[in-house]
Amino acid sequence: MQPHTFAQTGTTGGVSIEDLGPRIPIYTPDFVIDPLRRYHEMRDQYGALVPVELASGLDATLVIDYRTAIGILNDSEHFSADPRAWQQTVPETQRRKWDVYTMMEWRSNSLRSNGKEHDRYREATTAGLAGINQYALQQLVERTAGAAVNTFCRDGGADLLGQYCGPVAFGVVTTILGCTPELAARLGAASAALFDGRDTDTVNQMFDEALRELTRNKRAAPGDDVASRLVEHPARLDDDEMVQQLLTIVSAAIEVPQNLIANTLLLLLSERERFTASTASGLPPSTSAAIDETLFINTPMANYCITYPRQPRRIENVWLPAGQRVGSVWLPANQPVVTSMAAINDSPEINTGHYLGNRSHMAYGSGPHACPNPARVMARLMAEGAIDELLDRLPDLHLTVDPTELAWRPGPFHRALTELPVIFPKSRPLPIHV
Ligand code: HEM
Repeated sequence: MQPHTFAQTGTTGGVSIEDLGPRIPIYTPDFVIDPLRRYHEMRDQYGALVPVELASGLDATLVIDYRTAIGILNDSEHFSADPRAWQQTVPETQRRKWDVYTMMEWRSNSLRSNGKEHDRYREATTAGLAGINQYALQQLVERTAGAAVNTFCRDGGADLLGQYCGPVAFGVVTTILGCTPELAARLGAASAALFDGRDTDTVNQMFDEALRELTRNKRAAPGDDVASRLVEHPARLDDDEMVQQLLTIVSAAIEVPQNLIANTLLLLLSERERFTASTASGLPPSTSAAIDETLFINTPMANYCITYPRQPRRIENVWLPAGQRVGSVWLPANQPVVTSMAAINDSPEINTGHYLGNRSHMAYGSGPHACPNPARVMARLMAEGAIDELLDRLPDLHLTVDPTELAWRPGPFHRALTELPVIFPKSRPLPIHV
């Protein structure tokens, strides 16, 4: 498929994004109840580009069409990943009111930089992750998952999100980073403070101190882990840059895979028949098939890939509301443009209803900032290992409520359950072999 061609800045014609209709808040408890229905309505009423709010008063454009998103995400000449020009338009008092601000503000990492700086950070992080031995990672996932099951198997019930998916992702990531148990506990306390809504400065300081210490330790005595490979990388990252790359990994590699594991378990447990019945090949569809399907229909990063037009930008050949065919839309300079992976994956153009082995989804983004390949491999190994280990150890596992009664955490970026309650026959802890 060809991406759109974009007009030169300054060309006249086209409508302003503001003219397409009222802004839709995508951060509310109401929005997360049935987001796919809301994206369908957006497609009918707005077309490819939708004026939205990421928080009260935080205006952005949501891209819900595949070709338009591919065009924007691959056009670094006109779109910047660096949010500093936008930040200058936001008063200090206003920033503190937006929880999402910390996920959007500038940092010296790959996500929020362009050009040479981006290449430098991305190469270091990618090399750090690529050095992970996949067999060792598989064993680490099995070990961590087995130990997590042993903490609740005697109870006959658990919240899989808080007692399983979270601890497994956390244990695996702090280990591959090379944290001592004491440092891992400090990172755990910082994550808990974040969830408890402690003030941003306190949370940032907790993460900063722990990751600075990790950096110091690895400079003094490097080992076979991601933090050591980062300090030894030819990019020669300084301490502040080290903290930011480590923080990016901690934020991307714990919560997102945790939600991928939970959303996939929800699919498997809600549609057990479909995932255990034999197919024409004689084999039941695998965990892998359920992960592929989840990456399409309940992808853990629902909306992200934030980018900013460097100048007012006219996007040509975009779908307008139903019945109005195609036209041009102006996006204002320095206002966030967010890609909706969830909406695009569910669009008629992309969602063919065939998921197994189908990697045409947008779950990992696109363009120079797309999720690096070793990170995707790692996420997959974590998800497959965690799900298989759980179902091997507790095969008779059932949801305690109807899937439609489960609550989702409000927020514009993630697709995350608040809990995943299950019951199972009480069982004794099993030994961990690997
Ligand atoms: C299910 C799991 C995951 C999903 C769905 C996912 C999704 C994404 C997406 C959509 C982006 C693009 C963001 C943007 O353009 O602003 C991204 C970037 C990134 N991801 Fe992932 N990710 C996953 C797992 C991971 C893991 C496990 C790691 C690290 C170990 C990781 C590290 C990164 C990094 C460093 C970037 C920034 C790349 C850059 O800016 O050049 N991700 N990811």
